[in-house]
Amino acid sequence: MITQEQFKYFALLVKRESGISLADGKEYLVESRLNELAKILGLRDINDLYNSCKNNLTSKLKDQIVDAMTTNETYFFRDQHPFDCLKKEIVPEHVQKNGANLKIWCAACSTGQEPYSISMLFSDFFPSLNAKIIATDISPQVLNKAKHGKYSQIEVNRGLQITLLIKHFKQAGAFWEINDSIKKRIDFKSLNLIGSWGMDLSNLDIVFCRYVLIYFEQDTKKQILEKIERSLNPGGCLFLGATETPIGLSPNMKKVISGKTTYWVKEK
Ligand SMILES: C[S@@+](CC[C@H](N)C(=O)[O-])C[C@H]1O[C@@H](n2cnc3c(N)ncnc32)[C@H](O)[C@@H]1O
Repeated sequence: MITQEQFKYFALLVKRESGISLADGKEYLVESRLNELAKILGLRDINDLYNSCKNNLTSKLKDQIVDAMTTNETYFFRDQHPFDCLKKEIVPEHVQKNGANLKIWCAACSTGQEPYSISMLFSDFFPSLNAKIIATDISPQVLNKAKHGKYSQIEVNRGLQITLLIKHFKQAGAFWEINDSIKKRIDFKSLNLIGSWGMDLSNLDIVFCRYVLIYFEQDTKKQILEKIERSLNPGGCLFLGATETPIGLSPNMKKVISGKTTYWVKEK
């Protein structure tokens, strides 16, 4: 059983390193995830892990604890309507106003289903455009899986139409591997949203920052949203998760409701 002292220690560490807020009531989550990590590290349980941290908290161990506390739920074409909106509205308008180059950022890409969905959309509907996708996440484990682009039957059953599976994947044993033509549009990189971004994230046309800000406190959310706004080109669009409220977004980001989708456009 996790003690309050241990819970507070791990919650503070995770918040400091990643921004992820583990409020009171999340003791069970911390205990189950860190007990699992302890086993992977050859320790008995969370008590041993806590003692290890107290004795010698290496940066590797810190990263492993943060990684264990990330929630990586994702699936292909999640919510579907933002992708329909990209196809019908945002990309055609962009091409008309700005031409054939687009720079897109998936700011918390998890195991890759989101950037691969966007890349398949470009392949199928805008093959002549020069769309570059930067896909980032804090978790080395999910990024590694994303880079490989290999998914189980259960994973491809989530959100992916069979026609797209047949067209864009090849079977590799019990897995399905996405084709190089879809991979090559995407640059997967490690990035902590609360750190210094340290890579060229300027002049973006589209940002997907979906289902990650929900894990942060208000002031952290606000700081990230401000940085995203600065990274966008005028006329650039921001997508958040369907249930997310963009408190802290500046008035310069104009809300657009299009069918089931809400997105925000940087005015100037
Ligand atoms: C629930 S997934 C969302 C995946 C995808 N955007 C989607 O909507 O399907 C949240 C992701 O945010 C990542 N994450 C959490 N904190 C982060 C941080 N500080 N910087 C970058 N990524 C972070 C997690 O590792 C996880 O993969």
